[in-house]
Amino acid sequence: MVVPESQEKMYYPPVELQRNAHVPDFNSYLVMYKKSLENPEAFWREVADEFFWKKPATGPMLQHNFDMTKGNIFVNCMEGAKTNMCYNVLDRHVKEGKLGEKVAYYWEGNSPDHHMTITYRQLLSHVCRCANVLKQMGVKRGDRVSIYLPMIPELIVTMLACARIGAVHSIVFAGFSSESLCERIMDAQSSVLVTADGVYRGEKLINLKQISDEALEKCREKGSSGVTTCLVIKHQAQRTRTGTSCNKLQTPWESERDVWWDEVMRDSPDECEPEWMDAEDPLFILYTSGSTGKPKGVVHTVAGYLLYTSLTFRYVFDHHPDDVYWCTADIGWITGHSYITYGPLANGATSVLFEGLPVHPHVGRFWEIIEKYKVTKFYTAPTAIRLLMKYGQEPLRKYDLSSLRILGTVGEPINPEAWRWYHEVVGQGRCPVVDTFWQTETGGHVLTPLPAATPLKPGSATFPFFGVEPAILNEHGEELEGVTEGYLVFRKPWPGIMRTIYKNQELFENTYFRKFPGFYVTGDGCRRDKDGYYWITGRIDDMLNVSGHLMSTAEVEAALMLHQSVSEAAVVSRPHKVKGECLYCFVTLKDSKEFNCKLVEDLKRLVREKIGPIATPDFIQNAPALPKTRSGKIMRRILRQIARNEKDLGDLSTLADPKVVEVLFNQRSEAA
Ligand code: WT7
Repeated sequence: MVVPESQEKMYYPPVELQRNAHVPDFNSYLVMYKKSLENPEAFWREVADEFFWKKPATGPMLQHNFDMTKGNIFVNCMEGAKTNMCYNVLDRHVKEGKLGEKVAYYWEGNSPDHHMTITYRQLLSHVCRCANVLKQMGVKRGDRVSIYLPMIPELIVTMLACARIGAVHSIVFAGFSSESLCERIMDAQSSVLVTADGVYRGEKLINLKQISDEALEKCREKGSSGVTTCLVIKHQAQRTRTGTSCNKLQTPWESERDVWWDEVMRDSPDECEPEWMDAEDPLFILYTSGSTGKPKGVVHTVAGYLLYTSLTFRYVFDHHPDDVYWCTADIGWITGHSYITYGPLANGATSVLFEGLPVHPHVGRFWEIIEKYKVTKFYTAPTAIRLLMKYGQEPLRKYDLSSLRILGTVGEPINPEAWRWYHEVVGQGRCPVVDTFWQTETGGHVLTPLPAATPLKPGSATFPFFGVEPAILNEHGEELEGVTEGYLVFRKPWPGIMRTIYKNQELFENTYFRKFPGFYVTGDGCRRDKDGYYWITGRIDDMLNVSGHLMSTAEVEAALMLHQSVSEAAVVSRPHKVKGECLYCFVTLKDSKEFNCKLVEDLKRLVREKIGPIATPDFIQNAPALPKTRSGKIMRRILRQIARNEKDLGDLSTLADPKVVEVLFNQRSEAA
């Protein structure tokens, strides 16, 4: 058993949970972990055995090269095997597992009056009809389909329909701007865009079709005629609270291109033979921020992603057939892909699919939903926990949360205060908190506790999942042993790791493998304590994490630079009570006298329009000059300290002009 560091309170798994758990104690974890590293072939073959393979693998479970000096970087899982993701997560349960009548999703709308239940059989039928619709539109195996939808059942139907016919889905979070959507459609060269008329987010109506039209118009201006069909779901017009919003929402229409979903779905046959895909065929592309500012299309493939999301879901949430699981993420992010759609469905789980916000129409909405559906496993983000903490315990007392068994968090480091509140107030001291560290690129959890096995320390993602071998390196690439801190890297692949960046293998290799040959580099800093626990310390590249959403300083800077008054911009993070980090921007103006409230508002709007509301800066400061090295590199470390008002700046000898710093400190108070 692990010996806790002195003064640190450890949280041990509850005995009731251990009695019936997949991994019932820490020793079992260690034994299985050892097996997964010593004999990955046997370990992953056993996992693969429960799924359906049209053709068995002819190659090994995992092959790879992580060393650029030895040739191209690659990962290959189950070469020669043929299968279909959709078949495995739906048909298999309906046909072989007798789960046809089991609820796949309880959909809960933005308004508490809107909800519906979808069984596995119903989901399969909708998916087949949608698959036939896509085929009818000319979508073939390997073609890309962009999806810009809110959290409605049709989103899951569309992604699975793509998987069924071998099309590659590219989901764009429906909070992104038309500019961001355009960029992602162009990069993926999609031929179809699936969207909805509109959606209420809290009280606010968002006209998704109009944003989609703007995006497609921008694509056209940039010379792409890619999207030939836009499939539009009548969401708001059909499921509105008042029934009148269709008047408010004048859906723009281009009859050559636009098609209403319900019109084509109505007559579409509900049987569709799955396309038998190669194990390494792409399943989807999902864009994540790149440090250069251009989003990277992370590619995940069929077989490995199936094995990994399925296994992590089962073990990390200790899934059992009678569970009701709820992950509050949006499917527009990887968390939703892996732990709302694929992982839970692969396990035949029942999930809640929630369209709304944590505080609409009241601050107890999450707790109300947990009571309503008797949720047993609940997975959310630290930013949501910190937001809800602000309202105290009162909103929770009104609801019965006794169904909860396991709590999870993801997206950013969780501060121990929020962890304890989650554990004590939400989980009533009864539910382990699994702090899952992973990335869009990793496909699934890589550092995580197992709820019945791992003694917890608040703020630590604890230990590696099966098959995952972490290491901590120093700047020179030397591996550090024992108690230490440095770059978090992984020595070997697991089945769910990304395969490439879409159409850019070179960027893939340079981003993740160039710095330390032989390792996958996460971009995160990490500490290991004397009990071997891993603690993520945050990004060590030019990335920011706002409310669990990763963005690059470069993309925000590029947006600010579009303003004609701005000659230079530098963006850093500053701690924020709810969001974790927020954006603090320094702008150098062509004429610094132009700095005023209106300019600040214009700049904030510009960033919102270019990237989306999540990237809205909290502070913009006038910077007559930026602190630079003699070679002209902006010293972000100093800007971060100015943003945080930390006066002790340490060594400034590399600065070209130290006076710049003083000026920036003096002008801090004018930041808005
Ligand atoms: C980055 C990845 C994985 C789904 C959501 C974000 C940070 C994520 C944790 C955690 C500390 C975390 C890291 C990582 N992160 N989970 N449990 N503890 N940091 O996916 O947008 O690809 O962001 O989020 O910095 O690199 P993503």
